[in-house]
Amino acid sequence: MADIEQFEDLTTSDSAQGTAEPGGGDAPTIELEAVPENKRSPYVRPALSPLPFFTVNKQGLPELTSRSELNGEDVRKLLNKFGSPLYLVSEDRLRKDFRAFQQAFTSPGIETRVAYSVKTNYLPAICSIIFDEGGWAEIVSGMEYGLVKALGVPGREIIFNGPHKTYDELQTALADGCIVNVDNFDELSMIEEIASELSSPARLGIRINFRYGLSPWTKFGFSDDNEECQQALERIARHPNLRLDLLHNHSGTFQLLHEVYENSITRLIDVAKRARELGLAPTMVDVGGGFPSVNTLKPVFDVPGGSTRDEGHLFRYAQVICGKLQRARDLFGGRPTLVLEPGRAVVDACTKLACTVVARKEIEGQGPSVIVDAGVNLVPTACYYDHGVQRPPAESREEAPVEFRRPTNVFGPLCMQSDQLRERALLPEVDIGDPLVIDNVGAYCHTQSSQFIQSRPATVLLGPEGPELIRRRETWEDIFALDRVPERIARNPFNK
Ligand SMILES: Cc1ncc(COP(=O)(O)O)c(C=O)c1O
Repeated sequence: MADIEQFEDLTTSDSAQGTAEPGGGDAPTIELEAVPENKRSPYVRPALSPLPFFTVNKQGLPELTSRSELNGEDVRKLLNKFGSPLYLVSEDRLRKDFRAFQQAFTSPGIETRVAYSVKTNYLPAICSIIFDEGGWAEIVSGMEYGLVKALGVPGREIIFNGPHKTYDELQTALADGCIVNVDNFDELSMIEEIASELSSPARLGIRINFRYGLSPWTKFGFSDDNEECQQALERIARHPNLRLDLLHNHSGTFQLLHEVYENSITRLIDVAKRARELGLAPTMVDVGGGFPSVNTLKPVFDVPGGSTRDEGHLFRYAQVICGKLQRARDLFGGRPTLVLEPGRAVVDACTKLACTVVARKEIEGQGPSVIVDAGVNLVPTACYYDHGVQRPPAESREEAPVEFRRPTNVFGPLCMQSDQLRERALLPEVDIGDPLVIDNVGAYCHTQSSQFIQSRPATVLLGPEGPELIRRRETWEDIFALDRVPERIARNPFNK
Protein backbone atom coordinates (compact mmCIF):
# COMPACT_ATOMS: atom_id res chain seq x y z
CA MET A 1 0.00 0.00 0.00
CA ALA A 2 1.10 3.55 -0.69
CA ASP A 3 1.10 4.37 3.00
CA ILE A 4 4.30 2.43 3.46
CA GLU A 5 6.28 5.16 1.70
CA GLN A 6 4.94 7.74 4.06
CA PHE A 7 5.61 5.41 6.97
CA GLU A 8 9.21 5.07 5.83
CA ASP A 9 9.51 8.84 5.54
CA LEU A 10 8.75 9.15 9.19
CA THR A 11 10.78 6.25 10.43
CA THR A 12 13.85 7.44 8.59
CA SER A 13 13.43 11.18 9.02
CA ASP A 14 15.69 13.21 11.22
CA SER A 15 12.73 13.69 13.47
CA ALA A 16 13.17 10.08 14.46
CA GLN A 17 16.52 10.88 16.09
CA GLY A 18 16.57 9.49 19.55
CA THR A 19 13.38 7.55 18.99
CA ALA A 20 12.76 3.89 18.49
CA GLU A 21 13.58 2.17 15.23
CA PRO A 22 10.56 0.64 13.50
CA GLY A 23 10.02 -2.93 14.43
CA GLY A 24 12.22 -2.46 17.47
CA GLY A 25 9.65 -3.93 19.87
CA ASP A 26 7.86 -2.11 22.61
CA ALA A 27 10.80 -0.48 24.30
CA PRO A 28 12.38 2.38 22.34
CA THR A 29 16.03 1.77 21.46
CA ILE A 30 17.74 5.13 21.64
CA GLU A 31 20.54 5.47 19.11
CA LEU A 32 22.67 8.08 20.79
CA GLU A 33 25.98 6.38 19.99
CA ALA A 34 25.53 7.19 16.30
CA VAL A 35 25.15 10.95 16.94
CA PRO A 36 28.23 13.04 17.77
CA GLU A 37 27.81 14.77 21.13
CA ASN A 38 27.57 18.27 19.64
CA LYS A 39 24.78 17.15 17.27
CA ARG A 40 22.59 15.44 19.86
CA SER A 41 19.21 17.00 20.32
CA PRO A 42 18.76 18.43 23.79
CA TYR A 43 16.67 16.58 26.32
CA VAL A 44 13.13 17.85 26.09
CA ARG A 45 11.09 17.55 29.24
CA PRO A 46 7.63 16.09 28.86
CA ALA A 47 5.31 19.07 28.84
CA LEU A 48 1.83 19.49 30.21
CA SER A 49 0.04 22.33 28.51
CA PRO A 50 -3.18 23.82 29.83
CA LEU A 51 -6.25 23.37 27.67
CA PRO A 52 -7.94 26.60 26.70
CA PHE A 53 -11.17 26.65 28.71
CA PHE A 54 -13.43 27.00 25.70
CA THR A 55 -12.35 23.65 24.32
CA VAL A 56 -13.27 21.78 27.49
CA ASN A 57 -16.71 20.27 27.86
CA LYS A 58 -18.65 19.94 31.06
CA GLN A 59 -16.88 16.72 32.01
CA GLY A 60 -13.49 18.41 31.74
CA LEU A 61 -12.58 16.65 28.50
CA PRO A 62 -11.40 18.40 25.40
CA GLU A 63 -14.25 18.95 23.01
CA LEU A 64 -12.31 18.24 19.86
CA THR A 65 -15.33 17.74 17.71
CA SER A 66 -17.17 20.81 18.80
CA ARG A 67 -19.85 22.12 16.50
CA SER A 68 -17.79 25.24 15.82
CA GLU A 69 -15.05 23.12 14.23
CA LEU A 70 -17.69 21.62 11.97
CA ASN A 71 -19.12 24.94 10.92
CA GLY A 72 -22.02 24.41 13.31
CA GLU A 73 -23.08 21.21 11.54
CA ASP A 74 -24.38 18.09 13.27
CA VAL A 75 -22.36 15.01 12.29
CA ARG A 76 -25.37 12.67 12.51
CA LYS A 77 -27.35 14.82 10.13
CA LEU A 78 -24.42 15.00 7.70
CA LEU A 79 -24.01 11.21 7.77
CA ASN A 80 -27.72 10.77 7.18
CA LYS A 81 -27.65 13.11 4.22
CA PHE A 82 -24.37 12.12 2.53
CA GLY A 83 -23.87 8.57 3.81
CA SER A 84 -21.26 7.00 6.10
CA PRO A 85 -18.28 7.19 6.16
CA LEU A 86 -17.76 10.79 5.14
CA TYR A 87 -14.76 13.14 4.95
CA LEU A 88 -15.57 16.61 6.28
CA VAL A 89 -13.43 19.59 5.31
CA SER A 90 -13.65 22.86 7.22
CA GLU A 91 -13.03 25.72 4.79
CA ASP A 92 -12.57 28.19 7.62
CA ARG A 93 -9.89 26.05 9.29
CA LEU A 94 -8.05 25.52 6.01
CA ARG A 95 -7.97 29.24 5.26
CA LYS A 96 -6.87 30.04 8.81
CA ASP A 97 -4.09 27.44 8.79
CA PHE A 98 -2.79 28.60 5.41
CA ARG A 99 -2.75 32.24 6.54
CA ALA A 100 -1.10 31.36 9.86
CA PHE A 101 1.63 29.47 8.02
CA GLN A 102 2.27 32.31 5.59
CA GLN A 103 2.19 34.89 8.37
CA ALA A 104 4.71 32.95 10.48
CA PHE A 105 7.30 33.15 7.68
CA THR A 106 6.62 36.76 6.68
CA SER A 107 9.71 38.82 7.37
CA PRO A 108 10.93 42.30 6.34
CA GLY A 109 13.12 42.35 3.25
CA ILE A 110 12.01 38.86 2.21
CA GLU A 111 9.35 37.92 -0.34
CA THR A 112 7.59 34.87 1.11
CA ARG A 113 5.81 32.40 -1.19
CA VAL A 114 3.98 29.35 0.07
CA ALA A 115 4.00 26.72 -2.67
CA TYR A 116 1.51 24.15 -1.44
CA SER A 117 2.69 20.56 -1.84
CA VAL A 118 -0.18 19.36 -3.99
CA LYS A 119 0.44 15.64 -3.40
CA THR A 120 -0.52 16.10 0.26
CA ASN A 121 -4.15 16.47 -0.74
CA TYR A 122 -5.10 17.18 -4.33
CA LEU A 123 -8.84 17.44 -3.93
CA PRO A 124 -9.51 20.19 -6.47
CA ALA A 125 -11.66 22.14 -3.98
CA ILE A 126 -8.90 22.11 -1.35
CA CYS A 127 -6.28 23.20 -3.90
CA SER A 128 -8.63 25.96 -5.12
CA ILE A 129 -9.03 27.39 -1.62
CA ILE A 130 -5.26 27.47 -1.18
CA PHE A 131 -4.72 29.12 -4.57
CA ASP A 132 -7.46 31.60 -3.70
CA GLU A 133 -5.40 32.45 -0.59
CA GLY A 134 -2.43 33.25 -2.86
CA GLY A 135 -0.64 29.91 -2.60
CA TRP A 136 1.64 28.70 -5.36
CA ALA A 137 1.72 25.03 -6.38
CA GLU A 138 4.54 22.57 -5.74
CA ILE A 139 4.02 19.59 -8.02
CA VAL A 140 5.85 16.32 -8.67
CA SER A 141 4.20 14.84 -11.75
CA GLY A 142 2.55 15.57 -15.06
CA MET A 143 -0.75 14.54 -13.50
CA GLU A 144 -0.42 17.23 -10.84
CA TYR A 145 0.67 19.75 -13.48
CA GLY A 146 -2.51 18.99 -15.45
CA LEU A 147 -4.62 19.51 -12.34
CA VAL A 148 -3.14 22.82 -11.24
CA LYS A 149 -3.27 24.21 -14.78
CA ALA A 150 -6.93 23.19 -14.97
CA LEU A 151 -7.43 25.10 -11.70
CA GLY A 152 -5.92 28.22 -13.26
CA VAL A 153 -2.44 28.43 -11.72
CA PRO A 154 -0.05 30.35 -14.00
CA GLY A 155 3.26 28.67 -14.89
CA ARG A 156 5.31 31.25 -12.98
CA GLU A 157 3.60 30.11 -9.74
CA ILE A 158 4.45 26.44 -10.21
CA ILE A 159 7.51 24.69 -8.77
CA PHE A 160 8.11 21.33 -10.47
CA ASN A 161 9.99 18.87 -8.23
CA GLY A 162 10.55 15.14 -8.31
CA PRO A 163 13.08 12.60 -9.56
CA HIS A 164 11.11 11.62 -12.69
CA LYS A 165 9.86 14.14 -15.19
CA THR A 166 9.35 13.02 -18.76
CA TYR A 167 10.78 14.87 -21.77
CA ASP A 168 7.30 16.04 -22.73
CA GLU A 169 6.50 17.20 -19.22
CA LEU A 170 9.75 19.16 -19.04
CA GLN A 171 9.10 20.71 -22.44
CA THR A 172 5.60 21.84 -21.47
CA ALA A 173 6.55 23.10 -18.02
CA LEU A 174 9.62 25.04 -19.20
CA ALA A 175 7.70 26.65 -22.06
CA ASP A 176 5.02 27.61 -19.53
CA GLY A 177 7.55 29.46 -17.33
CA CYS A 178 7.42 27.03 -14.38
CA ILE A 179 10.48 26.71 -12.20
CA VAL A 180 11.80 23.21 -12.75
CA ASN A 181 13.99 21.95 -9.92
CA VAL A 182 16.57 19.74 -11.61
CA ASP A 183 17.03 16.44 -9.83
CA ASN A 184 19.87 14.66 -11.66
CA PHE A 185 22.36 14.88 -14.53
CA ASP A 186 20.22 12.82 -16.93
CA GLU A 187 17.37 15.25 -16.42
CA LEU A 188 19.77 18.16 -16.88
CA SER A 189 20.80 16.75 -20.26
CA MET A 190 17.15 16.72 -21.40
CA ILE A 191 16.67 20.27 -20.10
CA GLU A 192 19.77 21.51 -21.94
CA GLU A 193 18.37 20.12 -25.18
CA ILE A 194 14.87 21.55 -24.61
CA ALA A 195 16.19 24.97 -23.53
CA SER A 196 18.15 25.35 -26.77
CA GLU A 197 14.84 25.43 -28.62
CA LEU A 198 13.08 27.88 -26.27
CA SER A 199 12.64 31.53 -27.21
CA SER A 200 13.25 32.70 -23.62
CA PRO A 201 15.55 31.29 -20.92
CA ALA A 202 14.40 28.18 -19.07
CA ARG A 203 13.80 28.97 -15.38
CA LEU A 204 15.55 26.42 -13.20
CA GLY A 205 16.14 25.55 -9.62
CA ILE A 206 18.44 22.82 -8.45
CA ARG A 207 17.56 20.40 -5.76
CA ILE A 208 20.47 19.93 -3.41
CA ASN A 209 21.01 17.33 -0.71
CA PHE A 210 23.51 17.01 2.10
CA ARG A 211 23.95 14.60 4.97
CA TYR A 212 22.61 15.80 8.30
CA GLY A 213 21.19 13.67 11.08
CA LEU A 214 20.79 9.93 11.01
CA SER A 215 18.84 9.37 7.81
CA PRO A 216 19.23 12.24 5.38
CA TRP A 217 17.15 12.41 2.20
CA THR A 218 19.87 11.68 -0.34
CA LYS A 219 17.71 10.11 -3.04
CA PHE A 220 16.76 13.51 -4.38
CA GLY A 221 18.88 16.11 -6.13
CA PHE A 222 22.61 16.76 -6.30
CA SER A 223 24.84 16.10 -3.34
CA ASP A 224 26.72 19.07 -1.97
CA ASP A 225 28.84 16.76 0.16
CA ASN A 226 30.83 15.97 -2.99
CA GLU A 227 31.37 17.56 -6.41
CA GLU A 228 27.88 16.88 -7.82
CA CYS A 229 26.25 20.16 -6.91
CA GLN A 230 29.20 22.23 -8.11
CA GLN A 231 29.27 20.34 -11.42
CA ALA A 232 25.55 20.95 -11.91
CA LEU A 233 26.03 24.67 -11.25
CA GLU A 234 28.89 24.80 -13.75
CA ARG A 235 26.85 23.07 -16.46
CA ILE A 236 23.93 25.45 -15.95
CA ALA A 237 26.30 28.43 -16.04
CA ARG A 238 27.76 27.26 -19.39
CA HIS A 239 24.40 27.01 -21.14
CA PRO A 240 23.27 30.23 -22.85
CA ASN A 241 19.57 29.62 -22.35
CA LEU A 242 19.40 28.33 -18.75
CA ARG A 243 18.64 30.71 -15.90
CA LEU A 244 19.23 29.51 -12.35
CA ASP A 245 16.55 31.19 -10.26
CA LEU A 246 16.26 28.94 -7.22
CA LEU A 247 18.18 26.75 -4.79
CA HIS A 248 16.15 23.96 -3.19
CA ASN A 249 16.43 21.49 -0.35
CA HIS A 250 13.77 19.34 1.31
CA SER A 251 15.25 17.40 4.20
CA GLY A 252 12.44 15.13 5.33
CA THR A 253 9.02 15.17 6.79
CA PHE A 254 7.45 15.92 10.20
CA GLN A 255 10.73 17.55 11.16
CA LEU A 256 10.65 18.32 14.84
CA LEU A 257 14.19 19.68 14.87
CA HIS A 258 14.66 23.32 13.90
CA GLU A 259 18.35 22.56 13.44
CA VAL A 260 17.50 20.66 10.26
CA TYR A 261 16.24 23.89 8.67
CA GLU A 262 19.10 25.91 10.11
CA ASN A 263 21.52 23.52 8.46
CA SER A 264 19.51 23.61 5.24
CA ILE A 265 19.46 27.41 4.89
CA THR A 266 23.13 27.66 5.87
CA ARG A 267 24.14 25.18 3.17
CA LEU A 268 21.90 26.80 0.53
CA ILE A 269 23.43 30.22 1.29
CA ASP A 270 26.86 28.70 0.80
CA VAL A 271 25.77 27.29 -2.57
CA ALA A 272 24.42 30.73 -3.54
CA LYS A 273 27.86 32.20 -2.92
CA ARG A 274 29.45 29.68 -5.28
CA ALA A 275 26.71 30.15 -7.86
CA ARG A 276 27.39 33.91 -7.91
CA GLU A 277 31.10 33.24 -8.46
CA LEU A 278 30.09 31.35 -11.61
CA GLY A 279 28.05 34.31 -12.86
CA LEU A 280 24.69 32.78 -11.90
CA ALA A 281 22.13 34.97 -10.13
CA PRO A 282 19.70 32.99 -7.96
CA THR A 283 17.00 35.12 -6.38
CA MET A 284 14.99 32.39 -4.64
CA VAL A 285 15.70 29.92 -1.90
CA ASP A 286 13.36 27.02 -1.19
CA VAL A 287 13.61 25.02 2.04
CA GLY A 288 10.87 22.55 1.08
CA GLY A 289 8.17 21.28 3.41
CA GLY A 290 8.27 18.86 6.32
CA PHE A 291 6.90 21.21 8.99
CA PRO A 292 4.91 19.15 11.51
CA SER A 293 1.15 19.29 11.71
CA VAL A 294 -0.97 19.24 14.85
CA ASN A 295 -1.20 15.46 14.69
CA THR A 296 0.25 13.27 17.44
CA LEU A 297 2.96 10.85 16.40
CA LYS A 298 2.77 7.39 17.90
CA PRO A 299 5.28 7.33 20.79
CA VAL A 300 7.61 5.04 18.84
CA PHE A 301 8.15 7.78 16.21
CA ASP A 302 8.10 10.76 18.55
CA VAL A 303 10.79 12.32 20.71
CA PRO A 304 10.99 10.78 24.19
CA GLY A 305 8.18 12.21 26.30
CA GLY A 306 6.18 13.23 23.24
CA SER A 307 6.37 16.44 21.26
CA THR A 308 3.92 19.28 21.63
CA ARG A 309 3.08 22.01 19.19
CA ASP A 310 1.69 25.23 20.57
CA GLU A 311 0.26 28.07 18.51
CA GLY A 312 3.66 29.68 18.02
CA HIS A 313 5.60 26.61 17.01
CA LEU A 314 6.04 27.70 13.39
CA PHE A 315 7.71 30.94 14.48
CA ARG A 316 10.66 28.97 15.81
CA TYR A 317 11.24 27.48 12.35
CA ALA A 318 10.76 30.92 10.79
CA GLN A 319 13.28 32.47 13.16
CA VAL A 320 16.12 30.19 12.11
CA ILE A 321 15.28 30.32 8.40
CA CYS A 322 14.47 34.03 8.03
CA GLY A 323 17.20 35.11 10.45
CA LYS A 324 19.94 33.51 8.35
CA LEU A 325 18.39 34.62 5.06
CA GLN A 326 18.10 38.23 6.25
CA ARG A 327 21.86 38.35 6.67
CA ALA A 328 22.52 36.85 3.22
CA ARG A 329 20.09 38.95 1.18
CA ASP A 330 22.78 40.24 -1.20
CA LEU A 331 23.47 36.71 -2.40
CA PHE A 332 19.90 36.58 -3.69
CA GLY A 333 19.80 39.95 -5.42
CA GLY A 334 18.90 42.09 -2.37
CA ARG A 335 15.33 40.95 -1.76
CA PRO A 336 15.26 37.15 -1.72
CA THR A 337 12.14 35.14 -2.37
CA LEU A 338 11.74 32.50 0.32
CA VAL A 339 9.74 29.55 -0.98
CA LEU A 340 8.21 27.05 1.46
CA GLU A 341 6.46 23.87 0.37
CA PRO A 342 4.26 22.82 3.29
CA GLY A 343 1.86 19.96 2.98
CA ARG A 344 0.69 18.51 6.28
CA ALA A 345 1.22 21.73 8.27
CA VAL A 346 -1.43 23.42 6.13
CA VAL A 347 -4.04 20.77 5.32
CA ASP A 348 -3.94 18.15 8.06
CA ALA A 349 -6.18 19.81 10.64
CA CYS A 350 -8.98 20.97 8.33
CA THR A 351 -10.33 17.48 7.63
CA LYS A 352 -12.11 14.89 9.76
CA LEU A 353 -13.48 11.51 8.85
CA ALA A 354 -16.93 10.78 10.23
CA CYS A 355 -17.90 7.12 10.42
CA THR A 356 -20.41 4.83 12.15
CA VAL A 357 -20.06 2.11 14.76
CA VAL A 358 -21.19 -1.17 13.20
CA ALA A 359 -20.19 -3.70 15.88
CA ARG A 360 -18.83 -3.92 19.44
CA LYS A 361 -16.55 -6.55 20.92
CA GLU A 362 -14.77 -7.27 24.17
CA ILE A 363 -11.52 -8.78 22.87
CA GLU A 364 -9.62 -10.90 25.34
CA GLY A 365 -6.41 -9.16 26.32
CA GLN A 366 -7.30 -6.03 24.34
CA GLY A 367 -10.40 -4.80 26.09
CA PRO A 368 -13.33 -2.93 24.64
CA SER A 369 -13.27 -2.62 20.89
CA VAL A 370 -15.53 -1.28 18.20
CA ILE A 371 -15.72 -1.87 14.48
CA VAL A 372 -16.56 1.13 12.35
CA ASP A 373 -17.38 1.40 8.67
CA ALA A 374 -14.13 3.24 7.75
CA GLY A 375 -10.79 1.46 7.51
CA VAL A 376 -7.11 2.27 7.20
CA ASN A 377 -7.61 2.38 3.42
CA LEU A 378 -9.12 5.82 4.18
CA VAL A 379 -6.67 6.76 6.95
CA PRO A 380 -3.29 5.31 5.91
CA THR A 381 -1.61 7.70 8.35
CA ALA A 382 -3.06 5.65 11.25
CA CYS A 383 0.12 3.57 11.19
CA TYR A 384 2.22 6.47 12.48
CA TYR A 385 -0.25 8.91 14.04
CA ASP A 386 -2.46 8.49 17.08
CA HIS A 387 -5.38 10.30 15.48
CA GLY A 388 -7.89 11.75 17.91
CA VAL A 389 -11.16 9.79 17.90
CA GLN A 390 -14.29 11.35 19.36
CA ARG A 391 -17.92 10.58 19.60
CA PRO A 392 -19.50 13.87 18.61
CA PRO A 393 -21.78 15.26 21.28
CA ALA A 394 -25.41 14.33 20.78
CA GLU A 395 -27.92 16.89 21.90
CA SER A 396 -30.33 14.24 23.06
CA ARG A 397 -27.94 12.30 25.25
CA GLU A 398 -25.86 13.04 28.35
CA GLU A 399 -22.15 12.53 27.67
CA ALA A 400 -20.52 9.85 29.81
CA PRO A 401 -18.63 11.40 32.70
CA VAL A 402 -14.86 11.04 32.73
CA GLU A 403 -14.79 7.85 34.82
CA PHE A 404 -17.00 6.05 32.32
CA ARG A 405 -14.74 6.60 29.35
CA ARG A 406 -12.66 3.58 28.55
CA PRO A 407 -9.64 3.03 26.33
CA THR A 408 -11.30 1.50 23.29
CA ASN A 409 -9.74 -0.06 20.21
CA VAL A 410 -11.21 1.26 16.99
CA PHE A 411 -11.05 -1.22 14.12
CA GLY A 412 -12.11 -0.77 10.51
CA PRO A 413 -14.14 -3.13 8.30
CA LEU A 414 -11.27 -4.53 6.19
CA CYS A 415 -10.27 -8.16 6.33
CA MET A 416 -6.87 -7.48 7.83
CA GLN A 417 -5.92 -7.63 11.49
CA SER A 418 -3.89 -4.47 10.94
CA ASP A 419 -7.00 -2.50 10.00
CA GLN A 420 -6.94 -0.53 13.23
CA LEU A 421 -7.66 3.18 13.16
CA ARG A 422 -6.67 3.77 16.75
CA GLU A 423 -5.53 1.85 19.78
CA ARG A 424 -7.01 2.82 23.12
CA ALA A 425 -9.06 5.85 22.14
CA LEU A 426 -10.73 7.26 25.24
CA LEU A 427 -14.41 6.76 24.42
CA PRO A 428 -17.67 6.50 26.29
CA GLU A 429 -19.66 3.32 25.82
CA VAL A 430 -20.99 3.51 22.30
CA ASP A 431 -24.07 2.05 20.63
CA ILE A 432 -24.42 0.52 17.21
CA GLY A 433 -25.14 3.35 14.81
CA ASP A 434 -23.27 5.98 16.86
CA PRO A 435 -21.06 8.28 14.82
CA LEU A 436 -17.34 8.62 15.57
CA VAL A 437 -15.07 11.29 14.19
CA ILE A 438 -11.36 10.80 13.35
CA ASP A 439 -9.40 14.05 13.58
CA ASN A 440 -6.70 15.56 11.39
CA VAL A 441 -6.93 13.40 8.30
CA GLY A 442 -6.34 16.15 5.73
CA ALA A 443 -2.79 15.17 4.80
CA TYR A 444 -1.94 12.08 2.74
CA CYS A 445 -5.28 10.38 3.49
CA HIS A 446 -7.21 11.28 0.34
CA THR A 447 -4.16 10.98 -1.90
CA GLN A 448 -2.94 7.71 -0.42
CA SER A 449 -6.37 6.21 0.16
CA SER A 450 -7.11 3.01 -1.70
CA GLN A 451 -10.15 1.06 -2.80
CA PHE A 452 -8.99 -2.08 -1.07
CA ILE A 453 -12.18 -4.05 -0.38
CA GLN A 454 -14.25 -0.89 0.09
CA SER A 455 -14.85 1.98 -2.29
CA ARG A 456 -14.13 5.48 -1.06
CA PRO A 457 -16.61 7.82 0.59
CA ALA A 458 -17.87 11.24 -0.33
CA THR A 459 -16.20 14.44 0.82
CA VAL A 460 -18.17 17.46 1.95
CA LEU A 461 -16.87 21.00 2.29
CA LEU A 462 -18.27 22.88 5.27
CA GLY A 463 -18.14 26.50 4.20
CA PRO A 464 -20.14 29.72 4.26
CA GLU A 465 -22.80 28.18 1.99
CA GLY A 466 -23.34 25.18 4.31
CA PRO A 467 -22.34 21.62 3.39
CA GLU A 468 -21.26 21.26 -0.27
CA LEU A 469 -20.35 17.97 -1.91
CA ILE A 470 -16.80 18.23 -3.32
CA ARG A 471 -16.30 14.53 -4.14
CA ARG A 472 -19.12 12.11 -4.59
CA ARG A 473 -19.13 8.64 -3.09
CA GLU A 474 -17.63 5.95 -5.34
CA THR A 475 -19.77 3.10 -6.56
CA TRP A 476 -18.54 -0.39 -7.37
CA GLU A 477 -19.00 0.49 -11.03
CA ASP A 478 -16.54 3.40 -10.66
CA ILE A 479 -13.89 1.04 -9.38
CA PHE A 480 -14.19 -1.34 -12.34
CA ALA A 481 -14.94 1.24 -15.02
CA LEU A 482 -11.44 1.00 -16.50
CA ASP A 483 -11.42 -2.79 -16.75
CA ARG A 484 -12.03 -5.03 -19.73
CA VAL A 485 -12.90 -8.73 -19.86
CA PRO A 486 -11.98 -10.31 -23.22
CA GLU A 487 -15.27 -11.30 -24.91
CA ARG A 488 -14.12 -14.92 -25.25
CA ILE A 489 -14.10 -15.41 -21.45
CA ALA A 490 -16.94 -13.11 -20.39
CA ARG A 491 -19.96 -14.92 -19.00
CA ASN A 492 -22.06 -11.73 -19.06
CA PRO A 493 -21.51 -8.71 -21.25
CA PHE A 494 -19.14 -6.79 -18.96
CA ASN A 495 -17.55 -4.17 -21.19
CA LYS A 496 -19.42 -0.89 -21.42
C1 LIG B 1 9.85 18.18 -2.16
C2 LIG B 1 8.78 18.13 -1.14
N1 LIG B 1 8.20 19.28 -0.75
C3 LIG B 1 7.20 19.28 0.16
C4 LIG B 1 6.74 18.13 0.74
C5 LIG B 1 5.64 18.20 1.75
O1 LIG B 1 6.00 17.61 2.94
P1 LIG B 1 5.11 17.80 4.27
O2 LIG B 1 3.73 17.33 3.99
O3 LIG B 1 5.81 16.96 5.30
O4 LIG B 1 5.13 19.26 4.58
C6 LIG B 1 7.33 16.90 0.37
C7 LIG B 1 6.87 15.62 0.98
O5 LIG B 1 7.53 14.63 1.03
C8 LIG B 1 8.37 16.91 -0.59
O6 LIG B 1 8.96 15.76 -0.97
